[in-house]
Amino acid sequence: MKQLGEAFTAIPEGFPRAPSIRRPAIGGGAIERTEGMTTVENGSGTRELAGRRALVTGGTRGIGAAVVRHLLDAGAEVLTTARSATSTPPEGAAFVEADVRTTAGVGALAAAAREALGGVDVLVHNAGGARPHRTGLGIPDEEWQDALDLNLLASVRLDALLAPDMRDRRSGAIVHVSTAAVVPPAPPFLHYQAAKVALESYSRGLAAELAPSGVRVNTVSPGRTATPGGEATREHWESLDAGPGAVGTPPLGRDGRPDDIAQAVLFLVSDRSGWVTGKVLGVDGGEYPRG
Ligand SMILES: NC(=O)c1ccc[n+]([C@@H]2O[C@H](COP(=O)([O-])OP(=O)(O)OC[C@H]3O[C@@H](n4cnc5c(N)ncnc54)[C@H](OP(=O)(O)O)[C@@H]3O)[C@@H](O)[C@H]2O)c1
Repeated sequence: MKQLGEAFTAIPEGFPRAPSIRRPAIGGGAIERTEGMTTVENGSGTRELAGRRALVTGGTRGIGAAVVRHLLDAGAEVLTTARSATSTPPEGAAFVEADVRTTAGVGALAAAAREALGGVDVLVHNAGGARPHRTGLGIPDEEWQDALDLNLLASVRLDALLAPDMRDRRSGAIVHVSTAAVVPPAPPFLHYQAAKVALESYSRGLAAELAPSGVRVNTVSPGRTATPGGEATREHWESLDAGPGAVGTPPLGRDGRPDDIAQAVLFLVSDRSGWVTGKVLGVDGGEYPRG
């Protein structure tokens, strides 16, 4: 029987290598602070993630960019990725161009993480999304595949490459970013909901497998958050005239901000959540589950 990681740990020939990594300028760890950001020290005058090496997927905008900024602010060394070479990651982070929907992209990313960081202590699977359709049955096969590749299999494949090292070192924290909007069922978004529900189930299972080694695995499930991708998706959904899409303002009186989600991710990768694993943390202004 294959063990976790066996199927993917060998990085095949031909993946783009380190030359494509954009490294931060020396001393580039000093970053601009954003509103709502907190610097948490660990009690000995050191930032709480000092010395930790973090990989964040989809860190050039929205929630991922906020996660990168918070990790940098907490003292971590950060590598992030997106598909576009012209994307700008937050200052202080290293960047490598990779498409996490493909095994080649995931392999290149894992290789870059080993080259740029020497390994990974914190892994945040943030890249995700899908395009809504007027009906569930109208979702084309290639978009089902795309939704599963981006929202589920990217995490499965990247974990398989990087989690075995964490297991062997007996430390590490993994966060998968799902969505609070897995209920109620929404036909225009069936591919996305199905992929994210599978991601949450997978995340709990991986947590069970890695718990004996001390590696923690959790999920953060955001509600509607003001990001470029989130706003574009909701606008497109409304244009489809496909019934209720985005609901009203969440009970806490506003949409989420990327920093709201990043704070939850920061908690789950820090030692403050050292006894938390296999959990799904909804960060949604109280919106879900809808009554
Ligand atoms: N915003 C919301 O309301 C909301 C609600 C619930 C859950 N979420 C979840 O939160 C996460 C982040 O969402 P967001 O709203 O911040 O998204 P966003 O604004 O669209 O940003 C997505 C980031 O991921 C990158 N990315 C997208 N596809 C990629 C790929 N195939 N390979 C590598 N990088 C990729 C994007 O850069 P490139 O385009 O250059 O690749 C960008 O940096 C997603 O998992 C989403 O499902 C968001």
